[in-house]
Amino acid sequence: MASRRANGQYRVRGGAVLRGRVRVSGSANAALAAMCACLLSDETVVLDNVPDVSDIDSLAELLTALGARVERPAPDRVAVNGGGVNVLEAPVELITENRASFQVMGPLIARHGFASLPPPGGDVIGQRPIDAHLFGFEAMGAVIARAGEFWQARAPGGLTGARVFVDYPSVSGTQNIMMAAALARGETTIVNAATEPEVQALAQLLNAMGACVEGAGTQMVTVRGEERLHGATFRLPPDRIEAGTFAVAAAISGGDVEIEDAPVSVVDALVSKLRACGATVEASADAMRVAAGERLAPVSFQALPYPGLATDLHAPLAALLTQAEGVSVIHERVFDNRMLYVGELRKMGAEIVSMGASAIVSGPAPLHGAHLRALDVRAGAAVLLAALRAAGTTVIDDVFHLDRKYERLDGKLGALGVEIERA
Ligand code: EPU
Repeated sequence: MASRRANGQYRVRGGAVLRGRVRVSGSANAALAAMCACLLSDETVVLDNVPDVSDIDSLAELLTALGARVERPAPDRVAVNGGGVNVLEAPVELITENRASFQVMGPLIARHGFASLPPPGGDVIGQRPIDAHLFGFEAMGAVIARAGEFWQARAPGGLTGARVFVDYPSVSGTQNIMMAAALARGETTIVNAATEPEVQALAQLLNAMGACVEGAGTQMVTVRGEERLHGATFRLPPDRIEAGTFAVAAAISGGDVEIEDAPVSVVDALVSKLRACGATVEASADAMRVAAGERLAPVSFQALPYPGLATDLHAPLAALLTQAEGVSVIHERVFDNRMLYVGELRKMGAEIVSMGASAIVSGPAPLHGAHLRALDVRAGAAVLLAALRAAGTTVIDDVFHLDRKYERLDGKLGALGVEIERA
């Protein structure tokens, strides 16, 4: 497994034209939610196509600390047995490692009647409240209280299904409520549910474990509670954000890349924007070929909940637009602090300014290598993508951020022709 928080530095030589094939790994965010769902059963759940990224390792450590048995019998397979879970208060340092850790709360209250967790960590891309999660548990009968920095949820007699209106269609909030509802008495309806593919993947896993979840992928998700869930084997879908990152890499480098195992059916927004930029995108059932056009046209976009353009592709696309001939306008409508990448791109010569949740990019600006930082996962990806087009060498510090969600990024880029080394 990738070592948690192993820091490092990338040195990237700009100018390579990316060519060849790259295979997309399994979805990191879908895998994280799926691992939490394993706590809903005392039987073993086997997850396939799990990416070897450090957030998976951190979550595995958390599940183990709670008493679950977590094994990795193959590099892309994780087996979790939640039968031994007996610790219901999570160690602070394991919850603050990432955001997905808070998704153990739904399974813990549903199955054990109690959970005590501090607020989760994750990228500093906004305030990221957890009120939707807590509101959902409360609606199902849990009593929520604060004990110091911990949130405690109590439902000694079990949860009861309810109609839950979620104020904002939070992805992890929807997933947490779905998991809690899977073992509640009666039916739960989540109104204004998130529709992201990772929510759909979780519903498929829960159903494979014997739950009854309907409507995932729409804004109304219904979960009929079951008395117990059983073990299952489940294959995670490919990572749509990794696929998008390689698509942008092909376009920004002037290259031509075949992206294998691409989640083609869920990347409409990305494909539409790439085509508007002048790239050629050919899609088959599970592969995408992205070839850069003669020139890059400016494109404006808004980052939105699915099926809008993913907020996690905002920064990578902004890097591409620094090379477009004209002015592009970006509106971020999911997180309130997604602009950390702007300052780093400016150090490379990019003409980009942000005001609140909007950014204006003027191009094409010649980029040069610089010594930069990956400030969060996707800000790091944006810097790395810009480095592909920069003159000279770019040094990127704090690549542990990239390791959290991208599997062997240097190896995959290297195979496409990029001179990249990790120090
Ligand atoms: N929000 C609320 N109340 C809540 C929860 C969220 O108002 O209780 C708001 C947030 O403040 C934010 C918006 O809802 O403005 C979206 O947050 P959401 O809860 O949907 O995001 P998340 O579940 O914390 C997941 C992914 C993110 C991805 C977002 C949006 C995981 C572990 N993380 O976060 O992934 O950006 O959904 O698609 O699944 C990444 O991979 O780099 C990443 C940040």
